[in-house]
Amino acid sequence: MSFAIAIDGPAASGKGTIARALAVYFGFHHLDTGLLYRATGVRGGDPVQAAQSLTAEDLTRDDLRSAGAGQAASRVAAIPEVRAALFDFQRRFAAREPGAVLDGRDIGTVICPDAEVKLYVIASDEIRAQRRAAELGADPAEMLLQLQERDRRDSERATAPLRPADDAVVLDTSDLAIDQAIAIAIEIVDKAWNRRLL
Ligand code: CDP
Ligand code: CDP
Repeated sequence: MSFAIAIDGPAASGKGTIARALAVYFGFHHLDTGLLYRATGVRGGDPVQAAQSLTAEDLTRDDLRSAGAGQAASRVAAIPEVRAALFDFQRRFAAREPGAVLDGRDIGTVICPDAEVKLYVIASDEIRAQRRAAELGADPAEMLLQLQERDRRDSERATAPLRPADDAVVLDTSDLAIDQAIAIAIEIVDKAWNRRLL
């Protein structure tokens, strides 16, 4: 019986860092679903066709982490047919044994509505911009505008908008060091794991 952990939240909130750490700690598989949309966005041409034919090579391109790839991702992510093309792969991944951690925008609401654990990771706009700017060597003020634009697009789209699932635990990492955020997440997963064993 597999165990799915859904981690959603706005850009640069700390989802990926927490998801990776949980996967290592529990020995689970990890999928950064944002990479699917980034790879689709940077491929160019017809985005639906791109999403339908993503290869391992597309998912390991060096430029996927750039701010430009993030913007391209959020544009193609608003197209329902793009999301539909990526749905089955994510569902199958979530069912992998012994468990899987997926991070994105719609994991708890659309991809894994029955996930054993749902986290919704947030942090203030300014802190998220600072963190992402430090990561990319970019200007924090410019990064703030970019993240806000992307969050707005992700929240306002009609299909699978960014929002917490009703049963998600909200984790605000604004004032948390990475290790503290990870420790809280591990505790939440541990509790859910033990509950299931009862
Ligand atoms: O996956 P997501 O875009 O939500 O964020 P991330 O890539 O996990 O985190 C963005 C940046 O913030 C990374 O450089 C993390 O190391 C950093 N971070 C942090 O400084 N403090 C935290 N509590 C979480 C993440
Ligand atoms: O790491 P960060 O939070 O900056 O972005 P990401 O997770 O790599 O996602 C890039 C873009 O892909 C997001 O702004 C969304 O538009 C889209 N996305 C989505 O729509 N659904 C997902 N499950 C994951 C990403």
